[in-house]
Amino acid sequence: MDQTVKLLMAVMCVSFSAVVSQDEVCQTKPQGWVVEVGCWGHKFCNASKQVQTEFCDSGKVLDRDTMTCVLPGSGHNVCGNTTICSGRKDGFYPDTTVNCISYFVCSGGNNLGRLYCAAHLVFNSLIDSCDWSSNVAPPCGTLVASSTTPAT
Ligand SMILES: *[C@@H]1O[C@H](CO)[C@@H](O)[C@H](O)[C@H]1NC(C)=O
Ligand SMILES: *[C@@H]1O[C@H](CO)[C@@H](O)[C@H](O)[C@H]1NC(C)=O
Repeated sequence: MDQTVKLLMAVMCVSFSAVVSQDEVCQTKPQGWVVEVGCWGHKFCNASKQVQTEFCDSGKVLDRDTMTCVLPGSGHNVCGNTTICSGRKDGFYPDTTVNCISYFVCSGGNNLGRLYCAAHLVFNSLIDSCDWSSNVAPPCGTLVASSTTPAT
């Protein structure tokens, strides 16, 4: 496993633990449910309701529609797209083309990959984490700016 993958996985663990642990996700999801998608491959719920990781062969990236590994630049992915992160600060960016159910990671001007939020959540740039749509401002969420916030 190279440094980039290790870094990415560390980053992912941090951002996901804020929402729900991955093994918990698989307790309630069917076999084959995709937990996480990155340029490096994907994680899914297997027959024993555990998260299983499948890496792409080196030199290939994951196509998010077919969930197969393809050469960078082919298929539906932003993995081969180095320009998408150029000029961007290191961090997470919501993918507005899929209503922010996923986001991608930029580091040093490179796109480290794409991650999906848990079901019913969208990416909230303000907290760098997935969140309920009603907490997130458009275009990602449905938060309506209001003058008063009800006390909880
Ligand atoms: C499911 O994934 C876990 C963790 O990766 C692994 O230990 C286990 O053998 C897998 N189960 C099956 C049925 O593949
Ligand atoms: C890469 O991303 C940029 C910024 O979103 C976009 O303008 C460009 O068309 C993309 N290139 C490819 C090959 O997808």
